[in-house]
Amino acid sequence: MRITTLSEFILDRQHEFPHATGELSRILGAVELAAKVVSREVNKAGLAEDILGAMGNENVQGEQQQKLDVVANELFMNAMKGQGEVAGVASEEDEHYVVFETERARQGKYIVTMDPLDGSSNIDVNVSIGTIFSIYRRVSTGEHLMPEDFLQPGTAQVAAGYVIYGSSTMLVYTTGHGVNGFTLDPSIGTFCLSHPDMKTPEQGKIYSVNEGNYNDFSEGVRAYIDACKERRYSARYIGSLVADFHRNLLKGGIYFYPGTTKAPNGKLRLLYEGNPLAFLVEQAGGLASDGTRRILEIRPEELHQRCPLFIGSKAMVEEVVKA
Ligand code: AHG
Ligand code: MN
Ligand code: MN
Repeated sequence: MRITTLSEFILDRQHEFPHATGELSRILGAVELAAKVVSREVNKAGLAEDILGAMGNENVQGEQQQKLDVVANELFMNAMKGQGEVAGVASEEDEHYVVFETERARQGKYIVTMDPLDGSSNIDVNVSIGTIFSIYRRVSTGEHLMPEDFLQPGTAQVAAGYVIYGSSTMLVYTTGHGVNGFTLDPSIGTFCLSHPDMKTPEQGKIYSVNEGNYNDFSEGVRAYIDACKERRYSARYIGSLVADFHRNLLKGGIYFYPGTTKAPNGKLRLLYEGNPLAFLVEQAGGLASDGTRRILEIRPEELHQRCPLFIGSKAMVEEVVKA
C-alpha cells in the first residue's frame, strides 16, 4: 500500500487555497516539526522530570528541567517564529499575544492561537495530552499587530488542528476542506495519513463531562446527563480535552464543559480550545455550541475568554442545547 506522508499531503492540497503561495503550507510544516519534537519530549517526560530531576539534574545550559507545558510553548513559539509567515501568536501560556519582530515576520500574513499543552494535569500520570492550534489571516493593515487580529470569530479560521500525544502520536487538521488525521511512525519520524476524510457519527453513545460538577450545572444539563444514564450511555472523561474530543470524534459522542452558577462561562477558552475544535467537528459533520450560540460565530472580546462548550455528534449537541 502506498503511504502518503503529511508533507506530501500538505503540498497536494495547496491548490485548495486561492492564490496559494505556499505560506500556509509552510506554517503547517512548522506545526508538524514542533509536534514531533514535543512528542519526543512527552515520551521521555517521566525520565526528564522524575529520574533525572531526582538527581538534581540540569541540562547542558545549566537550566533546571522545565515543566512540559512551558517546553511545549517554547517549541511551538519558536517554530512559528522561525517560520516567517506568522506575525504573532496568542498562547494559553502567555498573558499577552507575542509579536515576532523579525523583518519577515513583520510582513507575515498570518497569526496563530494555541494551547501548547492541553490536559496538563495528566502529564505526570502518563495519560494522553495534546496541542491545539488555529491559524487566521491577519486583518489589520498597519505596521503593528492589533488585538483585532486575534479577536476574530472562529468562522474566520484558515486552518485548525490538534496533536494528540497518546498511545501513538497523531496530528489531525482541517483547512475547511474536510478533516484528515496522520499518525506518527516513530521509526521513521514521519506523520502518515491514517485517517483520511474523517467523519463523526451523527449519533453516539458516549457522554464526556466532569460529573463531579453535576450539582452546579443547570437543570437542563442535569436532565441531559440523567437521560444519558437512562439510556445506558457510556461515561468517558479523562480530563484532557484533546483526548476526550478525539475519541468522541472517531466513535461518536458528546463532550461538554458547561457553565455553572459560579463560573457561568465554564473553564475552556474560546480562542485556542473552543474555536479550533469547533471548526474540526463541523468539518467532520458534528456541531459545537455554547448552549445558545454556534461556537464559531461568537465574537471574542478577550484573548483568554472562556466559553461553555457542548461539542460532538450532531444529534447529541442538538438535544443538549434544547434541554
Ligand atoms: P489545560 O491543561 O490546557 O489547562 O486544559 C485543561 C482542560 C481540558 O483539557 C480538560 O478537558 C479540562 O480542563 C478538565 O477540567 P476539569 O479537571 O475541571 O474536569
Ligand atoms: Mn487546554
Ligand atoms: Mn494548556
